[in-house]
Amino acid sequence: MDKFYKRLSLYNSSLIKNEPSLPEWFLQYTRPKPPLYWRVVGQMLYDEKRSQRIVEVGAGCGDVTSLLCWMGFKKVIALERDPRLVKVVLDKLDSLGLSDVVVLNALYPIKLDFKPDILVQVNRIYSDRRIDKESFLKSILES
Ligand SMILES: C[S@@+](CC[C@H](N)C(=O)[O-])C[C@H]1O[C@@H](n2cnc3c(N)ncnc32)[C@H](O)[C@@H]1O
Repeated sequence: MDKFYKRLSLYNSSLIKNEPSLPEWFLQYTRPKPPLYWRVVGQMLYDEKRSQRIVEVGAGCGDVTSLLCWMGFKKVIALERDPRLVKVVLDKLDSLGLSDVVVLNALYPIKLDFKPDILVQVNRIYSDRRIDKESFLKSILES
């Protein structure tokens, strides 16, 4: 995982030179060590079957998406509402030689024609008019 993060962060560092207006939260993926939650996602999913269907909500610049692909998950759908970032994700996956992922420009919740086995949301807590954690979790489970 450390070796992969090194490749990812090098790519990201060159990316911000060409696209300096990327969001500030993205800069953490250019630092020598990844944010803790990136590593935790990898550890949590380590023993999961790679054939499971994963939906990732709020892919951002694709750093968690890249991790999922690098880990060998074969059925990943990543949703990102910002079309500019969708292009960033697609370019990144391509440059890092990662595949087996569909990246959609979509605002979650969307209707899916299948039931995902795993839902990944990292650093995407927006209140969306929910007033507490219970109603936030309920809204996710209902969608
Ligand atoms: C803070 S960023 C985190 C990105 C990524 N998960 C990470 O940890 O590096 C949150 C992302 O979620 C996207 N997002 C927020 N709400 C969304 C929604 N309802 N549907 C799709 N994308 C969403 C935002 O556009 C943003 O790119």
